[in-house]
Amino acid sequence: MPHPRQLKLGFVLHGNGVGWGDWRHKDAQPSASTDFRYYKRQAQLAEKAKFDFLFVADSVFITPQSSPHYLNRFEPISILSALAGVTEHIGLVGTLTVSYSEPYNVARQFASLDHISGGRAGWNVVTSWLEGSAANYSKPEHPAHNVRYQIAAEYLDVVQGLWDSWEDDALTHDKESGQFFDPAKLHRLDHHGQFFSVRGPLNIARSAQGQPVIFQAGASEDGINFAARRADAIFVGQNNIEEAKTYYRNVKARAAGFGRDPGPLILPGLRPVVGRTAEEAEAKYQEFVQLTSIGDALRMLGRPFNDHDFTVYDLDAPFPDVEHLGLNSNQSYVLKITRAARERKLTLRQTALEFASPRSEFSGTPEHVADAMQRWLEEGAADGFNIFESLPRQLDLFVETVIPILQARGIFRTEYEGETFREVLGLPFPENRYTAARGASLAAE
Ligand SMILES: Cc1cc2nc3c(=O)[nH]c(=O)nc-3n(C[C@H](O)[C@H](O)[C@H](O)COP(=O)(O)O)c2cc1C
Repeated sequence: MPHPRQLKLGFVLHGNGVGWGDWRHKDAQPSASTDFRYYKRQAQLAEKAKFDFLFVADSVFITPQSSPHYLNRFEPISILSALAGVTEHIGLVGTLTVSYSEPYNVARQFASLDHISGGRAGWNVVTSWLEGSAANYSKPEHPAHNVRYQIAAEYLDVVQGLWDSWEDDALTHDKESGQFFDPAKLHRLDHHGQFFSVRGPLNIARSAQGQPVIFQAGASEDGINFAARRADAIFVGQNNIEEAKTYYRNVKARAAGFGRDPGPLILPGLRPVVGRTAEEAEAKYQEFVQLTSIGDALRMLGRPFNDHDFTVYDLDAPFPDVEHLGLNSNQSYVLKITRAARERKLTLRQTALEFASPRSEFSGTPEHVADAMQRWLEEGAADGFNIFESLPRQLDLFVETVIPILQARGIFRTEYEGETFREVLGLPFPENRYTAARGASLAAE
């Protein structure tokens, strides 16, 4: 008997790992981030387990201090297009930044992925937080945090407008009459806004799911408002159930304020550490902790602070007063770290290690991990999760041991519910705006 609430699960394709030391694990494949066979295997395994989607993260600036996966990895649309050819049902979600791209290009790229995959594309709309990105795009400076979200809102208007260029039945392909398309059903956008001027139409039609699914991961005030108003699903970095519930209620209430009910799906990122027994789980957790040296943890900590060098401070002194360095970067994460350090009087060493390898309730036996996932779902802390691998082969173990428990409890599917990503997620088909307007004016006559 299916449970009234069903988990939505994403799997994060993250090559050779999240941290700086993951690639050195005895079972890790250091070249994984640019190995198509590796991605294919993980994608097919996640699909076999009926995951909702695969997620590919991205950024557009590296330094020699960046993590190994960031230093050498695939561009998201390229790898997802290749994976579209070796999967059939699973959603394909890629990150693309609005601060360093053009809406016309991005609309085409995601529309193409949506066609190639038979209606399975999703776009994680990010504003980019690494200030150095500007130097790769001929820009004098990184836009301010609030401006980035203003750009994002207009950008999404343009992209979604372009995606509606063609009404669903516009391509008539009438060989008899020679009419390839119905000109009344092809529309120019003619957008002239604060940041963009785009004429349209887009040179690709709508896909089987109408438009790609919109994901968002902003967690600052501006980020939450943008996501509550515009996103179909939200990623968030939470590992405390009480904080997660507060965030969940906040986002859903804001979405309701924008006239959206039930609002976006809320999907915390998770790095479960699973072991077949409690002892094995603890041993795996220790392996996970040991992947990160204090030097790695300091580099990891520096990243949201705009790649700040934390090695210059005394490790055992109180966490330094550096909050201001990250406010135009990953603002929400910076505030979270500095608040935790201040409130709990943590040293720099404690802060770095805690944020590098958090011990969450998602570490333990398969039953323990399934219990935690169910609790978060039932208590209104999450609609599902976006799962990162904590150690090599954790996906295999999760699929083999945790997924069957979730299925037996009726909180996770045993078969895909539909053909398109929207059908699988339970999202409505977005009617073309011009078709809708014509319908509305006919009804008014
Ligand atoms: C699970 C998850 C995945 C994310 N993936 C990306 C990503 O691929 N690229 C990126 O630039 N930011 C990514 N972010 C960061 C967000 O885009 C955003 O910058 C961050 O949450 C800070 O939000 P704020 O700027 O509203 O404070 C991710 C965040 C989470 C929680």
